[in-house]
Amino acid sequence: MPATVVIGAQWGDEGKGKYIDILAHDADIIVRFSGGNNAGHTIVHNGERYALHLIPSGILRENKTCIIANGVVIDPKVLLGELDGLMSRNARLANLYICPRAHLIMPWHRELDALQETFRGEHGLGTTRRGIGPAYSDKAERSGIRMGDLMEPDLFAELVRRNLAVKNAIIEKVYGGKPLNADSIIEEYLGYAKRLKPYVRDVNSVIHQALEQGKHVLFEGAQATFLDIDFGTYPYVTSSNPIAGGVCTGAGVGPRMISEVLGVIKAYTTRVGSGPFVTEQNNEIGDAIREYGHEYGTTTGRPRRCGWLDAVMLKYAVRINGFTGLCMNHLDTIGKLDHIRLCTGYRLNGVIIDHYPSSLRELAQCEPVYEDFSGWPSVDISGARHFNALPEQARLYVRRIEELAGVPFRYIGVGPDREQIIAL
Ligand code: GDP
Ligand code: IMO
Ligand code: MG
Repeated sequence: MPATVVIGAQWGDEGKGKYIDILAHDADIIVRFSGGNNAGHTIVHNGERYALHLIPSGILRENKTCIIANGVVIDPKVLLGELDGLMSRNARLANLYICPRAHLIMPWHRELDALQETFRGEHGLGTTRRGIGPAYSDKAERSGIRMGDLMEPDLFAELVRRNLAVKNAIIEKVYGGKPLNADSIIEEYLGYAKRLKPYVRDVNSVIHQALEQGKHVLFEGAQATFLDIDFGTYPYVTSSNPIAGGVCTGAGVGPRMISEVLGVIKAYTTRVGSGPFVTEQNNEIGDAIREYGHEYGTTTGRPRRCGWLDAVMLKYAVRINGFTGLCMNHLDTIGKLDHIRLCTGYRLNGVIIDHYPSSLRELAQCEPVYEDFSGWPSVDISGARHFNALPEQARLYVRRIEELAGVPFRYIGVGPDREQIIAL
């Protein structure tokens, strides 16, 4: 029953997609269990770059089953666009399955996401405006429409009309926006339904049968621990549970079925959108990291906020997710700097703390405590494939992170390509 979960340990974009693509080589099934097309997962293979938003990052491997499970919110237009994009590049898509329990992102969700963000003004969350929050809100409010409903045209039309009566009132009367037209939405979505029907099936049975047969199931996290709606920097979070526990509800597997939980980090920290960021370098250091690491959002193209690696966050992520191993990316990027800092604690009101505060006010008052390391700007490590081939400065940095986390590294990334990793 080997089930491996891959989770972002920071604020997203750690390079989860790259590790899923690598680990998918030895997996039978790859499952996305949370989030929606707010995610952007990059795979680089033979010089070609693929950006996936909804389809599991195992899709480029042959003969794998890829599943979009119940915990994901699906924008059918985006999903079909992604399918078309992959087909035009000759990816094989025969084994893609979609859960009928997954909720749909409807046009009013995108509209309300944008209106709410505008309304929040300077207190905006910096969402991706993809309708994620409103779709999960409707799921919790029990007015959501599911993929299975879309497969029943009469029911779907009825649900759209019922929903839109309320949503249009909110759009018009609360936000002063333009009402949406039910007929055109029904027509548009029933067109998607025809194309999506062959992929929709009971995926939970597929996952459980595979686990019973001892097959290897890989669960692909989207977003990350500090974007988790319960354990992240609320309210500057996404609307789902992208932590390891989210697999249980997002794919319908019990905790005892999970054998391995891998946490993915960058050798520094990035964040897109608003919210606290203790080690942020809003200066020439952050600019250098952004340029060396090409830190611009895969989904929205926004420049990512950059800062030092934060071991206080890492230890918290280890605890929340129960990581059994760590994967790091961008060791090549951070080594281009002359000096590197690693945050080992926070100073709050003159006292050093090593827990991650839940209060945003306290977080804003925390001053990072750093340990200093040397970079290795004259050494190009992108071709290194063994730990011992790394310069001593790089090895010291990696070993110290491992010591602070209390969890061993499994892989270290030295470039964006599938091949650019060091296995430990
Ligand atoms: P995800 O959302 O966690 O899958 O990560 P993204 O794909 O949004 O962002 C990770 C970015 O870093 C992508 O552009 C990757 O191609 C790139 N990347 C991943 N690993 C490495 C690495 O080890 N070195 C470098 N230089 N780039 C990497
Ligand atoms: P991957 O899977 C980075 C951020 C948004 C915003 C907040 C809420 O590629 O790591 P939302 O649209 O979810 O309501 O936005 O969450 N965010 C991400 N940041 N990587 C992601 O996914 C993200 N998904 C959401 O920028 O700050
Ligand atoms: Mg991403």
